[in-house]
Amino acid sequence: MNLDVVILAAGKGTRMRSDLPKVLHKVGGKALLSHVIDTALTLTPRTITVVVGHEADQVETATRQAHPQAPLQFVVQEQQLGTGHAVQQAMQALGDDGCVLVLYGDVPLVAPATLEAATAAGSADTVGLVTAQFDDPAQLGRIVRNEAGDIQEIVEYKDADEAQRGIREINSGILALPATRLNGWLANLSTDNAQGELYLTDIIAMAVADAVSVQGIAAAQTEVIGINDRAQLAEVERLYQRARTQALMAAGVTLADPARVDIRGTVNAGQDCFVDINVVFEGEVTLGNGVTIGPGAVIIDSVLGDDTEVKAHTVVEGATVAGRCALGPFARIRPATVLDEGVKIGNFVETKKSHLGPGTKASHLAYLGDATFGAECNIGAGAITANYDGVNKFETRAGDHVFVGTNVTMVAPVDLKDLAFLAAGSTVTGGVGENDLAVARGKQRNIPNWERPDQKAGKAPPLKKNED
Ligand code: UD1
Ligand code: CA
Repeated sequence: MNLDVVILAAGKGTRMRSDLPKVLHKVGGKALLSHVIDTALTLTPRTITVVVGHEADQVETATRQAHPQAPLQFVVQEQQLGTGHAVQQAMQALGDDGCVLVLYGDVPLVAPATLEAATAAGSADTVGLVTAQFDDPAQLGRIVRNEAGDIQEIVEYKDADEAQRGIREINSGILALPATRLNGWLANLSTDNAQGELYLTDIIAMAVADAVSVQGIAAAQTEVIGINDRAQLAEVERLYQRARTQALMAAGVTLADPARVDIRGTVNAGQDCFVDINVVFEGEVTLGNGVTIGPGAVIIDSVLGDDTEVKAHTVVEGATVAGRCALGPFARIRPATVLDEGVKIGNFVETKKSHLGPGTKASHLAYLGDATFGAECNIGAGAITANYDGVNKFETRAGDHVFVGTNVTMVAPVDLKDLAFLAAGSTVTGGVGENDLAVARGKQRNIPNWERPDQKAGKAPPLKKNED
């Protein structure tokens, strides 16, 4: 049966106290709504209809941008008259030949297997209803079963009597059923309840009355947590991170402390990697075997080869790093950096859009932007590529075994042939030939017995003469 997913996301999210619509708040670096959409996509639905209301345009724009390939459509619910009303709006935009799966935009952790089970029930002309057991179900809707254990109805907390409030099985809100059935029942909803809303939950009793069986699908509590405030957002973030770090450990990565690694994206890792504390991964990160990430490092959208070591407090973004490299501590590797086998980048070195050949070293305090260095070059402390004239960027190109002395400024465009040697303190413009030494600095001049200005002004005692 064709699957049409409906995601409810029209609510205001008042308790977030935020200008940002609730479903655009992030868990693991990804919007809540995007989590729900990505999980829905695992079922290859025909359509995904998002019911939006508050800040509808903002939600739609951000969501379309995040999922350019998804079969998305957006339906505006002008007034939030209840979950039943929201689904009514969605059904006006949908055919009646499918199975409809209703999800909530603020319930991001539901597992694909749970949705598969619900959809299987819905496709078999029954209602699949996802429920969970809570010790303290607070204001959630209660699942009422008969003596035989069959689901009879859902009672909202505000409409429930004391006995019903004692029920611990709750309605997650997620359900799947045939569109024809849904449309029939939606037409009969009423606002005759404690909140004066159109409750989607009322269709359960209608199904039972029509002798359509309701299959409860038991989900873990953690799957069905909805986010209403920032405390719940933080709680869900921790649950999500815990699942991510467990998966990393299962893949053979040692984490110094799984509670102190955050993954905002995906990390694919080989075996025997080690990740120290307070490391953040963002976007798509790939680690080879035996990669070591030091404390406080941030790795974004990068590939790190086998046995590469990223030392403490290094930031690597958009880089392709080969094996056996050493980066940091305190290095900044910026986008479009390519480092070949065995490159060494030391403290306070920044690279951007630069390619360093195998074995090349920049061990301290350098800026390499729009630069290409060959193999086995040595880039000294304080070496800078002056790559920008305020309007355009220019390239520095260097062959193999080039030696850049300390405090050299390479005013690009610069072309350094193999074995070129730049003397410390030089400002180099243009080219340096193979095996040539470039010295480009003022000649030293000493003025003997120079009287310092503060001596002239009588502010300082005369300098001690050298007694030897
Ligand atoms: C609903 C269920 C309740 C269930 C709970 C799980 C009903 C009547 N009750 O409670 O049984 O235990 O979810 O969290 O369905 N929404 C709209 N338009 C509306 C109303 C809501 O889009 O007019 C969206 C909200 O943005 C939210 C979701 O639907 O994403 C749930 O709404 P919310 O008000 O949080 O749920 P309750 O009605 O309290
Ligand atoms: Ca709620």
